[in-house]
Amino acid sequence: MTWRKPPEDLQLDTAYIDVWRSRIDLAKSDVAAYAGTLSRQERERAAKFTFPDKYEEYVVTRGLLRKALSHVLKRSPGTFQFDYTASRKPYLSCSAGDAPVSFNVSHSHGQALVAISVDRNIGIDIEKIRAEVEYEKLARRFFSGAEFEALMRCPPEQRVVAFFATWTRKEAFVKAVGKGIAFGLSEFDVNVNPVEAPVMLATRWNPQHVSKWFMATVDTDENYQATLVADGGEFQMRLWQDHASSDRM
Ligand SMILES: CC(C)(COP(=O)(O)OP(=O)(O)OC[C@H]1O[C@@H](n2cnc3c(N)ncnc32)[C@H](O)[C@@H]1OP(=O)(O)O)[C@@H](O)C(=O)NCCC(=O)NCCS
Repeated sequence: MTWRKPPEDLQLDTAYIDVWRSRIDLAKSDVAAYAGTLSRQERERAAKFTFPDKYEEYVVTRGLLRKALSHVLKRSPGTFQFDYTASRKPYLSCSAGDAPVSFNVSHSHGQALVAISVDRNIGIDIEKIRAEVEYEKLARRFFSGAEFEALMRCPPEQRVVAFFATWTRKEAFVKAVGKGIAFGLSEFDVNVNPVEAPVMLATRWNPQHVSKWFMATVDTDENYQATLVADGGEFQMRLWQDHASSDRM
């Protein structure tokens, strides 16, 4: 699948989940333009980031979210208001009659992803593959026993990629549920092979939920792993990037 420029008349479609991407290191003028679309509350939060890369990560991701929503809902980016669940998952404040649009965002070391859907619970996660990460320690601590064993059965040279594939599958799921990692990462099993399509293998709180959740790998860059998770039946993805500065990704 390729990342395309979105057509002007792009409409939300229940059969698809739209994924938008951007580099974080945009030109200063582009970051400033995104900052100009944020709410007062978001600008206050952005101002608290003392490291410039963290500031840019937040502003570009929120700016991309507002731009993507604006593109499909045909409203100005600054008009959207977000509310937060008790676990801090943001969602669109809706007026009566609005389409039930859901979204989720993720950012990691220079890349931002935004997923938008209609009437589904969705979660997205991207991670840069970092060889220096102590993946065995992290996997032992956070993965289920079955996942840890499957990871250790992978050839050593493939383990770091398998670790990040598994990590994004698990994080995207707990973000789709909305609880974040407080949900309990060892409460469920996913497959660990990064080359295989991602799939939920076991859901210990209710075995029937294993068939409720659908996953897809988001191919964004060879140095990253990213996964999208949704309920509401099988889905197809549409991949969009529309910023000139994003073309080098
Ligand atoms: C959500 C969580 C998995 C994020 O993981 P991460 O890999 O560090 O970050 P990502 O870049 O993938 O995602 C961050 C985005 O996820 C969204 N998000 C935040 N909390 C979320 C949640 N509970 N569920 C789904 N999405 C969430 C936000 O949009 C956030 O972006 P922002 O901080 O720029 O607004 C992790 O922070 C978590 O578990 N949070 C739960 C916190 C919690 O339980 N808080 C209790 C009340 S304070």
